[in-house]
Amino acid sequence: MTSIDTIDRTRLGTDGPEVSVQGLGCMGMSWAYGPTDSDEARATLERALELGITFYDTADVYGASAGENEQFIAPFVGAHRDEIVVATKFALTMDPNDPYKRTIRNDPDYIRGAVERSLQRLGIDTIDLYYMHRRDVSVPLEESVGAMAELVKAGKVRHLGLSEVTGEELRTAHGVHPIAAVQSEWSLFSRDIEGGVVPAAADLGVALVPYSPLGRGFLTGSFVSADKELAQDDFRRTQPRFTGDNAAANAALLEPVRSIAQARGATPAQVALAWVQQQAEVRGLAVVPIPGTRKRTRVEENAAATRIRLTDDELAALEPIASKVAGDRYADMAFTSAGRE
Ligand SMILES: NC(=O)c1ccc[n+]([C@@H]2O[C@H](COP(=O)([O-])OP(=O)(O)OC[C@H]3O[C@@H](n4cnc5c(N)ncnc54)[C@H](OP(=O)(O)O)[C@@H]3O)[C@@H](O)[C@H]2O)c1
Repeated sequence: MTSIDTIDRTRLGTDGPEVSVQGLGCMGMSWAYGPTDSDEARATLERALELGITFYDTADVYGASAGENEQFIAPFVGAHRDEIVVATKFALTMDPNDPYKRTIRNDPDYIRGAVERSLQRLGIDTIDLYYMHRRDVSVPLEESVGAMAELVKAGKVRHLGLSEVTGEELRTAHGVHPIAAVQSEWSLFSRDIEGGVVPAAADLGVALVPYSPLGRGFLTGSFVSADKELAQDDFRRTQPRFTGDNAAANAALLEPVRSIAQARGATPAQVALAWVQQQAEVRGLAVVPIPGTRKRTRVEENAAATRIRLTDDELAALEPIASKVAGDRYADMAFTSAGRE
């Protein structure tokens, strides 16, 4: 397996924070992907930092109850406040009767309350990067970003981000206040953002933070069929591409990932991460994927992928995969940027 000594840095946006070129997604520690060994998850946070990973991603909605993931990482954040960049998000609220049913709030009053709750749960005075998690089209974007800009002025937030926005929405928001980063799904399986928000971000000097860069684990080969292999409450059971006939068809698409990995003495996860990382060079913008893991061995494996550079032939072999994927990335695409483009 390819290993790593230290990890490179990049900047989020033209005046955003400097971060490691790979971050750590913390969502799975509290929600979505089955039971967590909490001690191992805490050790994974520490191991990530030892490896040079300085960028940690959470959201107020991650957890079986509101704020659970923010509270889970709070002791780590407190112990390393000056060494790390913490990103959290507002906008989604959960339905107490259905853990995967969400409503969206982008109105200024809601934003002002949400930031206080996140600050309190994280135990910090300022959030380094505050994202709008989803866009509520019933609220003018200028109003929402205006309220976010007020939080910067008040010192509660350092930098602003958006998640799952279109290129047009990014341009509008950036006109109200500089946006440091857009977080959207981007991987060998999910490339719908390349036509809209990626060129807009490159044009504006905004960084792209790809979420689910491992296709929620599917690209690693750790599962094939969500409905046959994963727990009843696993989020991936709701995703059309990981269930039913789509799952087996999509698993067959991983063959080039596996053969490149084998030829290099790497793992499929590392090849998948190297591909998304290399989009920085291909598309001309800062790209900081945030693979999620709760295991020390996996964070080591994932961090080591930052040292892999794929050849043109390897990139060409991986190129056709996304266009053949069967099934959407969410059951309801209305909340995504692709759903509004
Ligand atoms: N903005 C948004 O709307 C949004 C949506 C989803 C996620 N996110 C953020 O993005 C982060 C990453 O996305 P994600 O967690 O959904 O998906 P991901 O990073 O693509 O995949 C995570 C899954 O892969 C497994 N995994 C990680 N490294 C592995 C390896 N080397 N080998 C085999 N399996 C591996 C993890 O299991 P273990 O944990 O057991 O290792 C987990 O099940 C989240 O943590 C969250 O912070 C944001």
